[in-house]
Formats: sequence, C-alpha cells, structure tokens
Amino acid sequence: MTSSPRPPHIGDPPDPTGGTPALGGEPARGYLLDNARTEAGERFVWLAELFDGVTRGHFDRLGVGAGSRCWEVGAGGRSVPEALAAAVGPTGYVLATDIDPSWLEAGGGYEVRRHDVAADPPPEPGTFDLVHARLVLVHVPDRARALATMAAALRPGGWLLVEDADTALQPLACLDDSGPAQRRANRLRDAVRELLARRGADLRYGRTLPRALREAGLVDVAASGSFPVGGPACDRLEAATIRHVRGELLAAGLADDAEIDAHLAAIQAGELDLTLAPLISAWGRRPAEYPPALG
Ligand SMILES: C[S@@+](CC[C@H](N)C(=O)[O-])C[C@H]1O[C@@H](n2cnc3c(N)ncnc32)[C@H](O)[C@@H]1O
Repeated sequence: MTSSPRPPHIGDPPDPTGGTPALGGEPARGYLLDNARTEAGERFVWLAELFDGVTRGHFDRLGVGAGSRCWEVGAGGRSVPEALAAAVGPTGYVLATDIDPSWLEAGGGYEVRRHDVAADPPPEPGTFDLVHARLVLVHVPDRARALATMAAALRPGGWLLVEDADTALQPLACLDDSGPAQRRANRLRDAVRELLARRGADLRYGRTLPRALREAGLVDVAASGSFPVGGPACDRLEAATIRHVRGELLAAGLADDAEIDAHLAAIQAGELDLTLAPLISAWGRRPAEYPPALG
C-alpha cells in the first residue's frame, strides 16, 4: 500500500532540492521575491529608506571616495549604485550587477550588467576597492561560491562588505504580541520564512558572515547589526512583500485569502508596529597575498 504525501507544514525541513513542493507539478525554484513583479520595485524603495543610511555609513568608514572602483552585487534598485557613483565621482567606477537588472538605469553614473554571482566568473578580477552585496547572499543557495567570486574581484587591500538578514535571530513581525492582528502578522511572517527556506534561503546566514569572510581568505574581519522597530517604511515593505508572495502562500497552503486580506487591512490601519530581522553587516579586507599561502 502506498500513502499519499501530506501537504507541507510550517516547520517541515527545507526541500533538499531547494524548491517549493507544488501540487502535481515541478517545485518552484530560484529567487522568491523576483524582480519581474511591480512589488519588487516597491520593496527596493522601502529597503532603501530603511537601510541605505546604515550601508552608506559603512561605505564612508571603509574609505569609499573619489576615484574608488566599486562593484554592487545584486543591486536590485538604483539607490545604492547612485550613492556609490556620487561618492566615487568622475574619476571612479561603479559596476551594478543583478540576475535581473531591469530596475537599474543604464546611464545613471554606473555600469549595469546582468550577472549571476553564484554562477558567473568575477568581472575584472583583482581590481575593485569595494565589493558590496546587501540582502542577496541569503537567497543564493551556493553562497560560498558567490563569496569566493566577490573576494576574487577585490584588489589587494580592497574591502568586501556583505550585509544580510538573520531572520532566525529575530523572527517576529510584531515584537509587541498584544492582540490577534499582531499574532496573525507573526504567523504570516513564519509562513514567508517557510517559503524562503524552501527556495534554499539560509535563515541564519547573517550570524555566519564573519566566519564566512575569514573562510574566504579575508583579514581584519568585523561586523555589526541593526534593525528598525516600527514606522511607515516597515509597513509599506511588509505590504509589498505580502502582495508579492500572496500566490505562493495560497498555493503552498500556508495562508488563506481571509487571513492575508485581514493582515493587509491591519497594516493599512497602522496598528501593528511591524519590525524586521536584524541586518548583519560584515566586512573584511583582501590581504596582499591572496589566496593565502598554504602552510
Ligand atoms: C532582496 S533584493 C535586495 C536588493 C538590494 N541589494 C537592496 O538591498 O535593496 C535581492 C536582489 O538580489 C538579486 N539576486 C538574487 N540572486 C542573485 C544572484 N544569484 N546573482 C545576482 N543577483 C541576485 C535579486 O534579483 C534582487 O535584485
């Protein structure tokens, strides 16, 4: 006798193929929050509002300035490449890459290329003063290879800055779990995390970054973390994210229409004080001798 498979539940181990089990079809693969949808563009606006200040602070501290050469990996929207282009000026160079660069603007003071950081070779190896990726590697199943590609693009002494969420460190949407709307928000946050995990995202990646940078051969490694607590940008980001993945949540049986509509209405009412997972920013420098000599 054969038993039919039960529907997926929150808490099931991730599918080892990295795909979302679909009913009667191939598992969905690849980046969950893909750039083809208009909600991706909204998400970039609110991610910029929430995190660009943190990111620009790291750029300044790591010495990005006139004449620097920078590679922005998985750039998504325009704000970070534009900030880098303004910092490096006409004597510098900024390359912005993405698996789907459609939200980037050719002629915006930076060069745009389609590039898969986990599959393609580094552009112009050994030449960049700064290589940066924010909220990218957590989604890339072969993230060790992606890190090696980014490290190989650095000139000796150049800095790699990687910023990624650690959604397991602070998994709640509402820290103040004060009523049914807040508890529903937390359940839906779990459901979105489940979708991400089934696509191969590592929900504990942020905390591993310092070790990952050392293992990639970098030196002078350090890290810090930050996250916003409430406010309109958190609300707008959450609404765009939920609308983006609504179909996937329903197809996976992780939420129903009534629950999603009630959550969107509560966000609109501004009553949730939504928060995010901490963004861990980690940086390390390429030594003069790279890869490091053995023995
Ligand atoms: C969550 S968004 C973050 C965008 C931007 N870095 C930011 O912080 O606002 C993730 C971005 O990484 C890109 N991405 C995902 N997998 C990638 C890969 N293998 N290589 C390059 N870019 C990738 C996506 O297309 C998307 O633009």
